[in-house]
Amino acid sequence: MSIRRASQADESAVIALWLACELVTHYNDPSDDFRFAVCGVCSDVLVNEDETGQIDGTVMVGHDGHRGWLYYVATAPQARGAGLGRTLVQAAEQWLQQRGVVKAQLLVREMNTKVVAFYEHLGFEITPRVVMGKWLK
Ligand SMILES: CC(C)(COP(=O)(O)OP(=O)(O)OC[C@H]1O[C@@H](n2cnc3c(N)ncnc32)[C@H](O)[C@@H]1OP(=O)(O)O)[C@@H](O)C(=O)NCCC(=O)NCCS
Repeated sequence: MSIRRASQADESAVIALWLACELVTHYNDPSDDFRFAVCGVCSDVLVNEDETGQIDGTVMVGHDGHRGWLYYVATAPQARGAGLGRTLVQAAEQWLQQRGVVKAQLLVREMNTKVVAFYEHLGFEITPRVVMGKWLK
């Protein structure tokens, strides 16, 4: 596997993958999300390239000065079941550890609970919190 930090040139390939993985919602502009993370000082998008150079996996990672967060964990349908999702999550964890972050967190959409077992398999636990949000735009 060949994981690297995404650059702005990867935007269209990354967004195509997010669309294929049904991670794009009407309330998030994926281009804004990608650019904000790639240009941010506390965030990155990590991508995997297959043997032909195509991007077949992503994870957005960043920290807020306290906790680390993972978003857009995605592997291409044809690449699943081969350890790529695990490798991407581990790469994000390493990214956070290198910056002194001691806890990684993530949000799972209510309609996507089947993926909870994947994260539990990787050592994540459901944490009893009420998550509150407010749009600032
Ligand atoms: C979830 C996802 C990233 C998993 O990717 P993957 O490349 O198939 O995962 P891996 O092959 O690395 O699997 C790692 C381990 O988790 C297990 N696993 C994978 N998906 C699982 C699932 N849905 N439930 C339980 N276990 C799962 C695998 O069997 C494997 O176990 P092993 O290491 O003991 O063999 C992929 O299915 C995906 O992109 N889904 C759509 C996007 C999505 O919903 N992302 C999450 C947003 S919160």
